[in-house]
Parts: sequence; C-alpha cells; structure tokens
Amino acid sequence: MSKPKVLVTRRLPDAVHERLSRDYEPVFNMDDHVFDRDELLRKAEGMAAIVPCHTEKFTADVIAELPESVRIIANFSVGVDHVDLEAAAKRGIVVTNTPDVLSDATAEIALLLTLGAARRASEGERLVRSGGWKDWSPAFMVGTQVTGKTVGIVGMGRVGQVAARRFRGFDMTVRYHNRSRVSAEAEQGAIYHADLDEMLGYSEFLSLHAPATPETTGLLNAERLARLPDGAIVVNTARGALVDDDALIAALKSGKLAAAGLDVFNGEPGGDPRYRELENVFLLPHIGSATKETRIAMGNRAIDNMDAFFAGRGPGDRVA
Ligand code: DGY
Repeated sequence: MSKPKVLVTRRLPDAVHERLSRDYEPVFNMDDHVFDRDELLRKAEGMAAIVPCHTEKFTADVIAELPESVRIIANFSVGVDHVDLEAAAKRGIVVTNTPDVLSDATAEIALLLTLGAARRASEGERLVRSGGWKDWSPAFMVGTQVTGKTVGIVGMGRVGQVAARRFRGFDMTVRYHNRSRVSAEAEQGAIYHADLDEMLGYSEFLSLHAPATPETTGLLNAERLARLPDGAIVVNTARGALVDDDALIAALKSGKLAAAGLDVFNGEPGGDPRYRELENVFLLPHIGSATKETRIAMGNRAIDNMDAFFAGRGPGDRVA
C-alpha cells in the first residue's frame, strides 16, 4: 500500500523527519521559510495530510481552496487559533493539535517571565552588557518579590495546571479563573473564581494560559487592568490576542503595573514596537515550547495523530 503524502510546512527536528520518512511520503521545507498562501496551496496539491505550525494561517478561504486530497491538518502546536475549525469541519477535514507535551516547557517560560519581570532581569542584563553598571546602592534595581504573593491564573488547562504547581514552589497563593471548575486533583488547593473580574482584585501576579478564541480576544482590557492591585505584574505565554496592547502599554507607562513579561504578541513576529521602548517589560520571542525535548515530543504527537487517523482510529487530539 502506498504511504500517505504529507506536507510538513516548517523544518522539524531530525528525529521527527526520520519517523515521517519511514512511515509517510513527506515533503519537507528544509530551508524553513514561511509559506505564503499561494505556496501553501500549491504545495498542498496531492497531499493527504498537512503538518503545519501556528505560522501558517488556515483561514476559511484557504481551507475552501485546499485540494480535495487533504484529509487531515495535524498541527505541530497546541494552539489552533491559526485554523478556522468550523471551515475545516464543514469540508470534512480533520484537525488535531499537540496538547500535554509542551505544558512543562511553557510553564517554565511563564515562571521565567514572572521572575524576570519582577526582578528586572532584562533591564539588569542590559545594564551589565552595556558597561553602564557603575554602582551598587540599597535603592539600585529594586524589584518586586515573588515569594509568598498571590498569582491569578487565567485558563486552568494543562499549561495553567503545571504553572500553578511551579508557582506554588514559590509559596504563592494560587487563584484561577476557568470556564468551569477543574477537579480537586487538578486544583491542588488553588482557589476557583467563576468571575474573572473578582479574581483580578487579588492578583498581584496575573498569568495568562487561555487559548485565543472569540471569547478571550482582548480579555485583558483597560477595565480589567484597572481591577488589578497597584504594582501588579502581568505575564503572557498564551497568545497575544488575549491582551489589548493599548491598555497594557498605558498601564505599564502609568505605573499601575510594575512590569509585564511577554512571550507572545499581537502581530508576530515583532509585536507592538511600543513594548520595546519600555524598560519594565521582559520580552521573549514566542519560545514557550522551544526545548529540544518538547519539539521532538510535539512532532511525535502530530505523527501519532496521523497514524491513528490513517489507521481508521479517531486521532486522540482531534479538535475538528
Ligand atoms: C503552540 O503550540 O501553540 C505554541 O504556541 C507554538 O506554536
């Protein structure tokens, strides 16, 4: 039997390419450039599956023009906001993602941003690198202590739960808002708030872990930022779409917020250039899942989903 043809839109780890080459007929993108819409559609010709990243946008009109041969979009990502799931379902194209395997790595970045923003790490690093570090004084580079504070988690899914455990390692009180209350085992003592606005009043730190959906877009707006305690710190490892940039930048400039740590942005790559002008933001380039171990696990998870689909079993991580 001939092997299914698979378009892999970005360069994945060698181990993942090897497994794909063994079990499928893959087309790789060895120089790792981002396909534009036309190239994506051209390359999809004759493919049974596509393994994309969040960098490829499967809007309703792209999906409408995908060749008939395409039966599954097996994402190399947990987020699926780059795919119009309704349009895919309408065309009978199965869509999968890669949950679980990147929760640890992403939670690590949430903690890194929390500590980095609170303790002014990038500001300090820039100072040392530039040769501008001239003195030490009791008032020098004073930040915000993390230990013992209260963190509010928005989105208590897999990443949110791991982040909650890590925050607890800093003796933090963990509160969370989620569409529904999670099990006691997942909660591990975290305090549930059905009402996000109510939780904000307690959140000296706020860590975003919800997916980008029409309901969560612009969730962190001026009104909600105003509810946070003065001097709060906001961390985002989820998606830029959750944040109203004008409001966040205004809160960082006014001193309402002490700092923010951002790994994800509206308008990636790059994000809103105004963040680059602010000393009190710790910026990273969307590297939540960027560890060797996690990227291999994500590739294997995408292949597991395709294996199940082509074997006629329902793929475990089907989202459409
Ligand atoms: C994800 O998997 O959603 C990460 O943000 C990388 O795309």
